[in-house]
Amino acid sequence: MKLVHKGKVKDVYEIKEGNYLFHFSDRVSAFDVEMNTLIPKKGEVLCQFAKFWFNQLSMENHMLTIRDRDKMIVKKLRMIPLEFIVRGYFYGSLVDRYAKYPSLYPDLENLKPTLASKLPRPLFDPTTKSHEHDVPIAEDQIVARGILSRKELDYIKKASIRLYLEMSDVVQRAGFILADTKFEFGLDSNNQILLADSLGPDEFRLWPKSGYVPGRIQESYDKQILRDWLISTGFRDAINRYSERGLKPVPPPLPPEIINRLSDRYIYAYEMISGSSFTSR
Ligand SMILES: Nc1ncnc2c1ncn2[C@@H]1O[C@H](COP(=O)(O)OP(=O)(O)OP(=O)(O)O)[C@@H](O)[C@H]1O
Ligand SMILES: [Mg+2]
Repeated sequence: MKLVHKGKVKDVYEIKEGNYLFHFSDRVSAFDVEMNTLIPKKGEVLCQFAKFWFNQLSMENHMLTIRDRDKMIVKKLRMIPLEFIVRGYFYGSLVDRYAKYPSLYPDLENLKPTLASKLPRPLFDPTTKSHEHDVPIAEDQIVARGILSRKELDYIKKASIRLYLEMSDVVQRAGFILADTKFEFGLDSNNQILLADSLGPDEFRLWPKSGYVPGRIQESYDKQILRDWLISTGFRDAINRYSERGLKPVPPPLPPEIINRLSDRYIYAYEMISGSSFTSR
């Protein structure tokens, strides 16, 4: 097996017949810094989540099989070099993007949305992929730069919004709000567009419905415990101080209490949303 890519969370290997194996690790990061502590079961949960969504959603995808609960074998595709975000709420990087590039968001014109408010309809928000900051790209630019034909883009846009609505429906029945999610697509050997990459808590933003209050920062279901704890240790302030010098501080080791609560949250979200027990095979 040849390691072809090591992401923040997944290790990607090329295996026989040009297939890829995704190993979902237990790594966790916050404020863009990778922690030195692993979260038991996190990799398994992410893999089981991806499997659940690929089985659930109405689009062909790249999944072939699962191995050892935390590894997924997928068809190797020619990836479309964009990330397709669909947003149901005015939040996250959209807030800055909208301030910076209002012309990209005609849907939001004259709307002056408040933070975390529900958008009138799901917003398709593609970005280019980059290691620094992902940059939004206008639909016309995607076509003008020859990344996709107009027909392909329209197909992907329709599919992305449909998939977001399907996911949102499942998630809300489990007591959560799907604020936004990211999709990636690739082409197979017949030039068919397939849903690729992964779908799970690293791709989407989940808010507990019970705590939802528009107009302020929402509690993110999976990462909030970690973020709050890091803030209480002064680590977030350290990040800000170090960043002035272009450096990142070494994260503190996570205490067992935080590790266990994080692990439990991932499992709980999986069980609520998928409707199946995490331990069952
Ligand atoms: N079926 C596929 N065939 C080929 N490449 C794929 C397929 N599915 C996903 N990919 C690509 O594999 C890579 C997976 O990397 P991964 O998501 O782990 O890390 P990353 O995107 O580099 O960083 P981050 O950790 O921020 O997500 C991505 O570049 C993704 O576009
Ligand atoms: Mg990725």
